[in-house]
Amino acid sequence: AIDPNFERTREKVDEEDGVAVWGPVDPPVQLGIHGTHVAVDFDICLADGACLEDCPVDVFKWVDTPGHPESEIKAHPTHEDQCIDCMLCVDVCPVDAIDVDPS
Ligand code: SF4
Ligand code: F3S
Repeated sequence: AIDPNFERTREKVDEEDGVAVWGPVDPPVQLGIHGTHVAVDFDICLADGACLEDCPVDVFKWVDTPGHPESEIKAHPTHEDQCIDCMLCVDVCPVDAIDVDPS
């Protein structure tokens, strides 16, 4: 499961579409955690898609991650600033790849 303390245990190494990337990152096999308010551990996400289907405000978008061992697409929290903290995505992800920090 995603480490809920990632902001303390990891370094912010990059930004993608205005969304933070928390390392370590070593593409294509290690992609880190993407997002801060809505955080997705790309190394755990296996592209189930429930988060995209269920999020009422469409926070997530698919991004291509060719060569990653778990899946070749990931749920990117592109619109994490729109999140209404309903926690649905956290509940439906089968591999607990998502952490939402209610504001
Ligand atoms: Fe979307 Fe709710 Fe998850 Fe926020 S907590 S990203 S609103 S499903
Ligand atoms: Fe990935 Fe979980 Fe969403 S596996 S696509 S973060 S439901």
